[in-house]
Amino acid sequence: MNILKLINLGAEAKISLDDGIVTKDRIPKGYREKVLDVKIRKARTKKEAKLLERAKVAGVMVPNVLGTRDFSIQMDFVSGSCVKDILSAGNMKKICASIGSSIAKLHNASIIHGDLTTSNMILSSDKVYFIDFGLGQVSSKVEDKATDLHLLEEAIESTHYTISSGALKVVFASYLKDCDDGDEVMARLSAIRLRGRYVVRGSD
Ligand SMILES: Nc1ncnc2c1ncn2[C@@H]1O[C@H](COP(=O)(O)OP(=O)(O)O)[C@@H](O)[C@H]1O
Ligand SMILES: [Mg+2]
Repeated sequence: MNILKLINLGAEAKISLDDGIVTKDRIPKGYREKVLDVKIRKARTKKEAKLLERAKVAGVMVPNVLGTRDFSIQMDFVSGSCVKDILSAGNMKKICASIGSSIAKLHNASIIHGDLTTSNMILSSDKVYFIDFGLGQVSSKVEDKATDLHLLEEAIESTHYTISSGALKVVFASYLKDCDDGDEVMARLSAIRLRGRYVVRGSD
């Protein structure tokens, strides 16, 4: 018997599970002009599949891509828990070290994830899988890598605020250890933080 199960209906995509296979289907956005909407959905689908393949080659844990269509990707189901739901003081060290090391591997392979939040990471058999590469890009620019980290920093600070400073310390230490141009990226991250503060003060 075939059981098609809807596992997530987000703003961008419908995720369904059938026989161990996940289909991520980008749904039309009514507020976008039709031709543009089709173009955006096709481009994000293609990009996500390409970046998933590239991340896998770089040694990062991601679901295997099984096939693509214009607006949908079929991939392996990663069974486990969303890191957003389970990250705690007790498991933080191990999970955050793995997150930092995986981001370093992505960046060493010129992959910018584009949406690094703990909602887009799944803990499965003690390993952290990365998903949702639709906003990513291929770039080796220090600025893009630092922006990727800044997004994660903001996500962790708002979602995991009770443990965020310890969690980020572990993420960055592990990133620095494994990233080819980690020092430069971390220096740029500091500059990005200052830019943010300046904008906030300037608007007072
Ligand atoms: N391959 C997968 N295996 C298991 N769960 C998945 C998989 N892909 C997506 N999901 C689930 O669906 C949710 C939304 O998928 P995601 O790719 O992040 O789409 P969105 O762009 O809507 O955020 C994820 O947070 C996760 O819970
Ligand atoms: Mg997501």
